[in-house]
Amino acid sequence: MEVAKKVTLFFLLFVFASLIMACGGGDNTENTEGTGNGEENAEEVTIVYATGVDTTGSTLKQIEAFEEAHPHINVEYREMPADTGQQHDQYVTMFSSQSSEVDVFNGDVIWTAEFAQANYALELDRFIAADGIELDRHFDGPIQAGNFDGKQWALPAYVNASFFYYRTDITDTPPATWDDLIEQAGALQGEEGTEFGYVLQAAQYEGLVTNFIEIIASYGGYVLDEDNNVIINSPETIKGLEKLAEIVGSDFVPGNILNFQEIETENAWIAGDAVFARNWTYMQSSSDDDERSEVVGNVEIAPLPAGDEGTASALGGWMAMINRYSEHPEEAWELVKFLASEEGQKILAVEGARAPTVKALYDDADVQAAGPLFANPDFVEGLSTAVPRPVSPIYPEISEIIQIEVSRVLVGEQTAEQAAENMQSQIENAMAD
Ligand code: GLC
Repeated sequence: MEVAKKVTLFFLLFVFASLIMACGGGDNTENTEGTGNGEENAEEVTIVYATGVDTTGSTLKQIEAFEEAHPHINVEYREMPADTGQQHDQYVTMFSSQSSEVDVFNGDVIWTAEFAQANYALELDRFIAADGIELDRHFDGPIQAGNFDGKQWALPAYVNASFFYYRTDITDTPPATWDDLIEQAGALQGEEGTEFGYVLQAAQYEGLVTNFIEIIASYGGYVLDEDNNVIINSPETIKGLEKLAEIVGSDFVPGNILNFQEIETENAWIAGDAVFARNWTYMQSSSDDDERSEVVGNVEIAPLPAGDEGTASALGGWMAMINRYSEHPEEAWELVKFLASEEGQKILAVEGARAPTVKALYDDADVQAAGPLFANPDFVEGLSTAVPRPVSPIYPEISEIIQIEVSRVLVGEQTAEQAAENMQSQIENAMAD
């Protein structure tokens, strides 16, 4: 695809360097067809699978395929809010009261440590061993994201990295730096009926943390160092945050940008309202959707604009987990196994442009045809250098501190310097408790 050639991804080198190791084909020896222990005669069981709003419809296709392969397991789909923070809070309410209402759920990569420590999730090690699941068929980063305290609590459903979407009917040259973005978004706003130069996620929620983490990283700023020391109060963080505030405060973003999450971004984008956008990989699929999109054929994807240190993308993604209080752990495991399998991930990649963690899928012609990013070898490298958020059982506290302090800068209540100082002391205190 044309687009693929243009996508060159040089993400900031950070951790997860091992993600692409041994990338390539491999035999699919995982058994996704059930355990073969008389499943055909088994009693019918209904399990509930909860996952956040999926505008691409790919989750339902996965469920159909799973039910076909497992006639005795019915899967009831529970749609959770799109906002990961709201989902998180609902699960915490459910699991802390030991509710069994959900059997399998998709957890954000940032939840594993907390959910493992709180004993909300079921360890998967015995299932993995019994079924001979080869974890090394996946990128290492997402596998590690499901591991805490030496145990595997989750298997990856898909991995996320953020990208820069641009309208090819308006420009052939996406901005190389954040300063270029500010210039071009201002100059091109209004072309081809657009209302906005740029859309991103600036609401006070987890998505803001990812936008913040990547823009500060593009200037060399990080929350923690390798030894978990808090290093957020740095000139690099301040520079990145000031740039974010400049963008959010500009005339080329929607007036209500402080309410924008991914869904608002996607809606504005597919309606043809914006020249540029920041979003995860799935927006490839919506951009190309004849039924929903006004911009079919006019969208290409590039790395996010660079700061002084280069371009950086936040690392995201979702992990299949079993509720510790599920009354159907065996059937729940069958679904988890399927979601993480080559077959399950292929459906999500082809129908929903969600990036697989099974390495072999990047050589699959259908996956390559589904999204320009997946056909580009640089994409895989980009994933390996995406910037993770702090791994901690108190991640929600850290995130809330960042959300509040960054938002106060975006609404003009404090300077980036003050925010960096506040985040430093508050995160230090939270981690010391
Ligand atoms: C995406 C990412 C997830 C992140 C969220 C923020 O869903 O996969 O990791 O927390 O966006 O909105």
